[in-house]
Amino acid sequence: MKIGILKETKPGEKRVALSPTVAGQLIKNGFEILVESGAGTASSFEDPLYESAGAKVVTDKSQLISEADVVAKVNPFGDDEISQLKSGQITFSLMYHLSNSELVQKLNGKGVSSFSMDAIPRISKAQSMDVLSSQSNLAGYKAVLLGANHMTKIFPLMMTAAGTITPSKVLIFGIGVAGLQAIATAKRLGAQVEATDVRPETKEQAESLGAKFIEVKSDGVKAEGGYAKEVSEEYQQKQKEAVNKSLSQADLVITTALIPGRKAPLLISEEQVKMMKYGSVIVDMAAEQGGNCEISKADEIVFKHGVYVIGTTNLPSSLATNASELYAKNLSTFLQYLATKDGFKWEMEEEITKGTLICHGGNILKS
Ligand code: NAI
Repeated sequence: MKIGILKETKPGEKRVALSPTVAGQLIKNGFEILVESGAGTASSFEDPLYESAGAKVVTDKSQLISEADVVAKVNPFGDDEISQLKSGQITFSLMYHLSNSELVQKLNGKGVSSFSMDAIPRISKAQSMDVLSSQSNLAGYKAVLLGANHMTKIFPLMMTAAGTITPSKVLIFGIGVAGLQAIATAKRLGAQVEATDVRPETKEQAESLGAKFIEVKSDGVKAEGGYAKEVSEEYQQKQKEAVNKSLSQADLVITTALIPGRKAPLLISEEQVKMMKYGSVIVDMAAEQGGNCEISKADEIVFKHGVYVIGTTNLPSSLATNASELYAKNLSTFLQYLATKDGFKWEMEEEITKGTLICHGGNILKS
């Protein structure tokens, strides 16, 4: 079975769907790998590395698409790529199908079977295929570094002959995958970290990493499939009251609150930004979904009321070597999960397939 890996075309994207190491493992397991020339260069994987792993590097994208049984990439397929797909081929990529119905229709129109890597269910047996988690983990780490870079202070307590520097205060909203890594990273750098989440069970997780949990007095919010649901206005008000003191003292705030398929919950209003310290920094990881902070803008750094609000949307791309390696491992585990000796076979009702197969046989299965 031939797996074709396309070079990403999204502006600024440095990741690639398959690393040379993982390509080599798939080849050992009987797959043939075709890689578009230059696909891995921005991730520091040059063509010869793929060739040494046994992959075929193809310069002509159309040739690669026409030869492959499976075509994979990181970002959603573009019109030019879709136009070259053939009926019966299988595609793997991020699709964000809930907000991308046009893409789904176009892929379905070509008669391909399309799996969406962002729709892998958060269940134990799919953990090793969970692209959102592998990428969010890296993004949580990078968010702290990005914030630190914009601060005019250091993180740790430092006792020097010239005097003592007190540790910076970091506040994290959302203790999911990105939030936990942000806590761990900020702690490692020596900051005092506080964190809050609607799911009460996150208290123990935050505390185990050395953060102080900010509790919002309520009945909490039930999670479904590892994800939180929307909260009431009353809860939002209570949350504001609970965090305002910490917000006004914070040097760095990282927001990671997510409700799948919805606009990001608004957690920091412009009024709250006004109460923050001059020179403090917010990294709003949810900027692409509308932002957790009222004044954040996707892919911009806004400086307002003395606060920097950073809305970088593709943090994993800035760590492309690691991000591609992890995406590749997620993809390869998924490919091997679906593969049999006679090609790809799947049960339509099987949990992972049901969650990720968006169109198949000319039918849109999820919208
Ligand atoms: P996750 O689902 O693991 O964590 C989100 C957390 O937010 C959950 O623990 C949830 O309970 C919490 N939450 C939901 N509503 C809340 C509220 N009203 N108040 C407090 N907490 C609330 O998600 P993950 O993977 O950690 O991603 C977090 C965010 O980061 C998402 O918006 C995701 O799209 C974004 N992201 C951004 C990247 C970037 O480059 N900017 C890269 C990767 C992820």
